[in-house]
Amino acid sequence: MPYYSDEQIEEVRAANDIVDVISAYVPLKKKGSAYMGLCPFHNEKTPSFSVSQGKQMYYCFGCGAGGNVFTFLMQYENDSFVEAVESLADRAGIALPKQELSARARQEADRRMRILEANKAAGKYFYAQLRMEQGQECMAYFKKRGLSQDTMKKFGLGFANGTSNDLYLYLRNEGYGDDILKDSGLVTIDGRRGGRDKFWNRAMFPIMDVNNRVIGFGGRVMGEGEPKYLNSPETIIFDKSRNLYGLNLAKSSRRPYILLCEGYMDVIALHQAGFDNAVASLGTSFTQGHAALLKRYTKEVYCTFDSDSAGVRAALRAIPLLKEAGISARIVKMDPYKDPDEFIKAEGTGGYQERIDQAQNSFLFEVEMLERDYDLKDPTEKTAFYHAVAEKILGFGEALERENYIEAVAQKYQTGFENLRKMVQSVGMKAGAAREAKKWKSGVQENKNKKKKGDGMRQSQKLMLTWLIEDPRLFAIIEPFIGPEDFTEELYHKVAEAVFIQCRQGKMNPAQVINLFTDDGEQQEVASLFHAQLKEVATQPEKEKAFKETILRIKENSMGWRSKHLDPADLAGLQKLVADKKSLQQLYQMDFSLPEPLI
Ligand code: UTP
Ligand code: MN
Repeated sequence: MPYYSDEQIEEVRAANDIVDVISAYVPLKKKGSAYMGLCPFHNEKTPSFSVSQGKQMYYCFGCGAGGNVFTFLMQYENDSFVEAVESLADRAGIALPKQELSARARQEADRRMRILEANKAAGKYFYAQLRMEQGQECMAYFKKRGLSQDTMKKFGLGFANGTSNDLYLYLRNEGYGDDILKDSGLVTIDGRRGGRDKFWNRAMFPIMDVNNRVIGFGGRVMGEGEPKYLNSPETIIFDKSRNLYGLNLAKSSRRPYILLCEGYMDVIALHQAGFDNAVASLGTSFTQGHAALLKRYTKEVYCTFDSDSAGVRAALRAIPLLKEAGISARIVKMDPYKDPDEFIKAEGTGGYQERIDQAQNSFLFEVEMLERDYDLKDPTEKTAFYHAVAEKILGFGEALERENYIEAVAQKYQTGFENLRKMVQSVGMKAGAAREAKKWKSGVQENKNKKKKGDGMRQSQKLMLTWLIEDPRLFAIIEPFIGPEDFTEELYHKVAEAVFIQCRQGKMNPAQVINLFTDDGEQQEVASLFHAQLKEVATQPEKEKAFKETILRIKENSMGWRSKHLDPADLAGLQKLVADKKSLQQLYQMDFSLPEPLI
């Protein structure tokens, strides 16, 4: 799998100073030994995103995002590891050797390209059909819905006629074989009946990715009928959770925010009315992937969903996803109309612009929806409602922000500001006490957003690596007892091997260790090893005790693991185990004295 050699990768990494690279995306300010800024991976008002020139790594103490310069591009630009290496090589003017793709990778790339071409050819075919005799009814339908010729052209609208296999025959004739067509999402191929088109007698909406390539279609019945829309299935080129309808156009809008709506027709109507910043998800609900995609283009999203209960649910689902991605959300109300398409028809561009100007803060919208679950005339329920609101307010990290929301809610519900504030404080205190109690148990302060909670063993291995990285002097002390093979956790094992080599050579280079991993989740986990905040409270004897216990735990665990997995014929393994048992006895008796100041 390695695509470029380790040396090439390291050369590229070393040629791109992480502070320079990240500064192009995030304003950074020097603070002590680190550069700090607002984290681009979560929403925050005070900087917890730190970039270290010495370590050539970044780490967010708020959300745990971290890694080296490659990880940053992977997380920010959604690049793959190889893409990140290539783009940074480019930036530094390093010519990487042209890669000979493996036969399989080349086949895969060819296949993708052919499927893209087939979809493009289908788009052209539908487009032409709409403008022919057989397309008249569909053309009339689009016109009835108020679409201009310009709009139809801009969105590449088309028509799939009533014949069950004409597209299939057309594409065959254009040179596409069944093996490509069956994976294109355009036809189904059945041993007996041959190829059949997926879309018949439908108004066709090509779906484009941000680079204007046709990746799939939505097809609508002209009039009433089920299903109303039929969509291309997911294929190797069509990932519904990473594409948005209309984003190819909206990405170059001059408006500073994006309008997020539910339907294809809403997007089209909005663009036609001059709102060239409208997008919609693709017949699926809004996902984290969509939020990450939008984050590349904007900081602010206006949700302009249908006014029915499904629209409310969609908004309540999208708001936290947007927030997590660091996007602020507002809600545009469409009532008394069903959706933006109807609204625009009735009230025009000016009316819609007014609704945008009046758009509601997403928090107040959530509170308003929460209110529906309580009978505010009942004192107990009313208290419960404020309690729930207080919990939500605590979700804001900044004191001033919390105050502002307390004020807004108090005003809206005509309740005392002070009372609500006290409630927020008391709810916060209870939650805070519970958090504090958990925090120091492990020695390493786990990030609160970390998905994988380490068990005790992982913790010990992680702790040992963190210590080594923080103070390579410890290496001499542990080397007689512990080797990389004692790190049974696979990821830690790999890191340990690299760290041990660097310790022996006397040059720690954490950013290089990260190069060993090509998955940004793994890179992030490794970065967290280099940024663990160690328990500060321990006295020197306590630290020494913890250090010894950690060595013992790692060793005992590793021996237990090996004796379980040992091949009885493996004499060397057996001997090593016996020797380890002896050194373990020795270890129990030993006292370590650690150099100060340390861990
Ligand atoms: P709507 O029913 O609101 O459709 O569904 P619309 O886009 O406003 O279209 P018109 O105005 O009724 O013609 C919203 C979106 O949900 C998906 C489509 O992406 C649609 O645009 N959907 C809806 C489907 O995928 N299949 C369906 O059967 C219905
Ligand atoms: Mn609709």
